[in-house]
Amino acid sequence: MGKFDFEEMWNLEHARYIKPALGKTRLCIVGGNRRVEQMEQLVENGDGDAIFMCRPFIREPFLVKQIKEGKTKKAACISCNKGVAALVNDMPLRCYTDGLPTKN
Ligand SMILES: Cc1cc2nc3c(=O)[nH]c(=O)nc-3n(C[C@H](O)[C@H](O)[C@H](O)COP(=O)(O)O)c2cc1C
Ligand code: SF4
Repeated sequence: MGKFDFEEMWNLEHARYIKPALGKTRLCIVGGNRRVEQMEQLVENGDGDAIFMCRPFIREPFLVKQIKEGKTKKAACISCNKGVAALVNDMPLRCYTDGLPTKN
């Protein structure tokens, strides 16, 4: 990871400022969450109440099941945004790491 100027957990630092001001309001954190150990640590440390992922589920719809079954400890999504590029060009949303299709 890093090939696309990608920084893991880019909202963690912001969460550390915001969380203490929220009182009992729950804080859920999204943005570059990829590794299970770091996500668990974030919640255990009290920096947030839950973590979300978005693009990883485009590539691996059953990722949560695989994590729960101990089959993987991180998302395979490399955050290249090719799926979004396809979407805004009227192509189906899916993982395109194997290359974008050409328009007919
Ligand atoms: C296809 C797609 C659609 C998204 N739609 C929304 C949206 O409607 N509203 C929103 O707040 N964020 C939207 N996002 C941003 C995600 O919620 C998330 O913040 C972002 O993808 C970073 O998280 P990730 O690294 O887990 O992908 C979208 C992201 C993707 C890839
Ligand atoms: S196209 Fe790239 S960003 Fe989108 S799901 Fe696949 S690896 Fe992740």
